[in-house]
Amino acid sequence: MDFFDTINKRRSSRKFTDKSVPDEVMKKSFEAAIKAPNSSNLQTWRFWWVRDLEKKKKLVEFCFNQSAAREAKELVVVTADPDLWKVSNPEIIKYAKEINAPRLVKFYYEKLIPMTYRVGWFGIFTPFKKLSFFITGLFRPITRRPGSMRDLQEIAIKSAALGAENFVLALEAQGFSSCMMEGHDETRVLKLIGLRSPARTAMVIGIGEPSERALWGEQFRLPLEKVVKEV
Ligand SMILES: Cc1cc2nc3c(=O)[nH]c(=O)nc-3n(C[C@H](O)[C@H](O)[C@H](O)COP(=O)(O)O)c2cc1C
Repeated sequence: MDFFDTINKRRSSRKFTDKSVPDEVMKKSFEAAIKAPNSSNLQTWRFWWVRDLEKKKKLVEFCFNQSAAREAKELVVVTADPDLWKVSNPEIIKYAKEINAPRLVKFYYEKLIPMTYRVGWFGIFTPFKKLSFFITGLFRPITRRPGSMRDLQEIAIKSAALGAENFVLALEAQGFSSCMMEGHDETRVLKLIGLRSPARTAMVIGIGEPSERALWGEQFRLPLEKVVKEV
């Protein structure tokens, strides 16, 4: 399917047919998901394909039984966990050495990333980081974040959301529809998949073939001139 056809066809479907989603379709969509741009390439996202029937039932309940979850043939939870930098950073450093990456790249991952991602026990470094950003920022443009675990979570969630978008577009391109759901009990969902803070849920996604009742109208968007501004 042409790229713009996929973009234009994608809608949030909340009712699905009984047709199951082939594993290959899911796999291809996960492959597309992890190609999304992500902060420092640290890939602090995880995609949880909830297949266990008991867990699936619970997940529907934790999505407040909404139809997009209840009717979905497959359910995926996209999580964001800043602490996963500890998993990916050594791999990136190893890879950078193997391909003899520029020194700046090695410096970035060996020095800057650990400095950025360490906020100390209970965020003890946060006030010092914020103060240093503030003072330096008085004299020159600097990055003001991340200073806290909350900032790091925000960055991880942005990346995870981009992964989620790639994922649903890939599903659409293969003839399957989806619905992203912020409407869920994050604490319970995290517990269900065995995670805890600082991990966050970025999205729960219901997937299936859209039924005739999947949509209640044409796609509504504000006109371009209201949302695109030239400054
Ligand atoms: C962050 C986010 C949270 C959402 N949460 C829900 C949700 O809990 N339940 C639901 O039915 N749809 C949810 N949606 C889908 C939106 O309602 C939908 O994208 C929007 O109405 C535009 O419709 P469209 O996707 O068909 O263009 C969510 C979408 C996003 C991006």
